[in-house]
Amino acid sequence: MLFQPLKVGPLELRNRVICGAHFTMFTEPNPVWGEPGFYGRRYGRYLADRARGGVAAVIAGKTAVAPNTAYKMPNNANGWDEACIPHYEELTSQVHEHGALAFLRLTHSGAMMLGNWSKQVAVGPSPSPDYFETPREMDDGDIRAAIDAHVTCAVNAKKGGFDGIEIQSAHGYLLHQFLSPKFNYRTDEYGGSIENRMRFGMQIVDAAREAVGDTVAVGIRLTGDDEQSQGLSGLTAGDCAEVAAAYEQSGLVDFLNVSVGIGGVGIMRTNYAPHLFGVYAAHKVREAVRDTPVFTVHRILMPDEAEGIIERGEADGITLVRALIADPEWVNKAREGRDDEIRRCPAEVEACIASHPAVAACAVVGTADAKWGEIVVAHVVTRDGVDVTPDELDRHCRERLAAYKRPRQFEFVERL
Ligand SMILES: Cc1cc2nc3c(=O)[nH]c(=O)nc-3n(C[C@H](O)[C@H](O)[C@H](O)COP(=O)(O)O)c2cc1C
Repeated sequence: MLFQPLKVGPLELRNRVICGAHFTMFTEPNPVWGEPGFYGRRYGRYLADRARGGVAAVIAGKTAVAPNTAYKMPNNANGWDEACIPHYEELTSQVHEHGALAFLRLTHSGAMMLGNWSKQVAVGPSPSPDYFETPREMDDGDIRAAIDAHVTCAVNAKKGGFDGIEIQSAHGYLLHQFLSPKFNYRTDEYGGSIENRMRFGMQIVDAAREAVGDTVAVGIRLTGDDEQSQGLSGLTAGDCAEVAAAYEQSGLVDFLNVSVGIGGVGIMRTNYAPHLFGVYAAHKVREAVRDTPVFTVHRILMPDEAEGIIERGEADGITLVRALIADPEWVNKAREGRDDEIRRCPAEVEACIASHPAVAACAVVGTADAKWGEIVVAHVVTRDGVDVTPDELDRHCRERLAAYKRPRQFEFVERL
C-alpha cells in the first residue's frame, strides 16, 4: 500500500512517502547581507536526490515568513522577498525533473527567535518564560502583520513553482504557541477556548488559501500532542484531534502532517525513543477527520514499519526525514524489495546538523550490512565559498565523532 497514489487536494502523490521538512543549511546567501539567504540551486540539488530516489513529494523548509522571525540558526532562508522567486524556480525545477512534487514549509518562529541576533524583539501570544528571550505579547497589528507575511510567502512560493505549502503549527513555533495553553495566556479572542486559540492559525490558513487559489495544496504541520503530562498545561492528543477536525470542517486544508512534542531534540528523538513513537497521535487525528489525508512521522526507519502504518490505517502518508538524509534512494530500494541495501539511519541525531562553519549538513548512518549504529558514514556538504580543505573537514568530523564511545568511520559522500 505504500506505493499506492494518494490524492492531496488538487494534487496526486505518486506514492505515500514524503521527504519531511528539515533544516539543512543549504541556502544561497543573500548577496548583500548574507543572512537570511535563499532556498535555490543547492537545496534543490539535495532535494532532487530524494526526488530521484522515489519520494512522492519533498517539503522544503523551513522558510522564515518575516524579518523578525528569520534568525534562529545559521543559514536561514527568506521567504518574503520577491528575490527568492528565481531561486525557488531553480529548486522546484530540479525536483519536478524527477517526477516528485515540491512543497514549501512556511514558519514564523514567534518566541523561538534569537532577538539578540536579529536585533528585533521576539514576539509571541503571551510573555511566556519558556524561551531564551521572553517574547513581547503580540497586539492586533502584529497579528495582522504575521497573517500578511504568510500570504506574501505563500504567493512567492506559488510563483516559484511550488505545488503546495505547509504552514508550521507544531514544534513550539508561533502557531503552536497560540494553540497551546502552555504558551498562550491571552484573555482576548485569541486565548482561552480551543476555538479561540486556533483562531490565529485559521486566519493564516484562510488568507493563504485565498491567495494561492485551489491549484496549490495547503496543509498544516500540526502538533499532535504536547506531551505535557504530570500536571503541566499543554495540548493533549485529544485536543489536537479536535483542532484537526475543526481544520477539516473549515474546508481550508488539504493535508494534516502530525508531529508530537514541543521542540528541540524532543522532535527528533534518538535511540531512547521507540520506533514510530509519534504515530499514535496521527492515528488519533485520522480517527477524528473524515477524508483529509493525514501524514505521520518519528523514527520510521525501514519500509516494513512504514508499510505497517498505512496497512493498519494509522495514517495515509509517511513523512521521513533522517532515513532519507541517510539514504536518498530509500523509496526506490523499498519498492524494488531491496530493503537490505538501504543505508540505515540509526536516528541517533549525532550529527544531522553539523557545527563546523564549512559543514552544511552531516548525517550519521549505519551501512547496509552493519548492525545499528556500529559504523557510520558522514554525508558532508560544504557551504558555498567557504574555503575548507578535505583535511580540515576530516579533522572536524573525527573530533565530533570521537565523543562517541563506539568505533566510528566516516566517508565524505558529496559536496554541494
Ligand atoms: C537535521 C534536521 C532538521 C530538522 N529541521 C526541522 C525544521 O526546520 N522544521 C521542522 O518542523 N522539523 C524539523 N526537523 C524534524 C523533522 O521534520 C522530523 O519531525 C523529525 O526528524 C522526526 O522524523 P524522523 O524520525 O524521520 O527523522 C528536523 C529534523 C532533522 C533531523
